[in-house]
Amino acid sequence: MDFAQVVRRRRMVRNYRPDPIAADKLERIIRAALRAPSAGFSQGQSFLVVQREELRRRIAEICGEPGYVVRGFDPWLSVAPVHVVCCTSEAAYHERYREPDKLASEGRERQWPVPFWYVDAGCSLMLLLLAAVDEGLAAGFLGLSEPRTADLKELLGIPEEVVPVGLVTLGMPAKDRRSSSLSRGWKDRDSVIRWERW
Ligand SMILES: Cc1cc2nc3c(=O)[nH]c(=O)nc-3n(C[C@H](O)[C@H](O)[C@H](O)COP(=O)(O)O)c2cc1C
Repeated sequence: MDFAQVVRRRRMVRNYRPDPIAADKLERIIRAALRAPSAGFSQGQSFLVVQREELRRRIAEICGEPGYVVRGFDPWLSVAPVHVVCCTSEAAYHERYREPDKLASEGRERQWPVPFWYVDAGCSLMLLLLAAVDEGLAAGFLGLSEPRTADLKELLGIPEEVVPVGLVTLGMPAKDRRSSSLSRGWKDRDSVIRWERW
């Protein structure tokens, strides 16, 4: 598919057909995420792919799906045939930026006004979402917060130092309810793009 078309077609899909994803498609989608840039090539991103039905059902419970379904939403997570937990490791960046070629002045690790470990996770996330569209599939992203993060880490055996930043669902799209947030409309481009000077 043409790149511009992939970008235009991408949207968060929150309902799926239960059909499994072919292994080669899934492999290509995950590989695309691995091509993301990372600060200092730290490569702190990691991905946990979950396909087992029982685990997906437990993840859906942890993320509060039953409560959403009662309120009339589609059973998003339990139905999607694949979950990808996108993770990052802050420690990988500290380790990398203490190497000689990355040390800042006076031999100290740089200050981190922007946490690059989240920037890089976002880069990977976008590649996952776009690669899914390119494969003729749909994807959705669910953000995580406590206590769900802790429960998810325990369920899936995610190590202490690894932070799950969110969950991507993959699969064939079913008719879904669009996010009510979209009614806000796109911001006027002149208010977000400036040229030469702010
Ligand atoms: C960091 C981040 C967190 C998000 N968290 C959620 C979420 O928890 N639940 C959800 O339904 N959508 C979530 N979304 C999806 C946004 O609502 C969606 O991207 C936005 O409304 C624009 O819609 P579109 O992506 O379909 O174009 C999240 C998106 C991002 C980038």
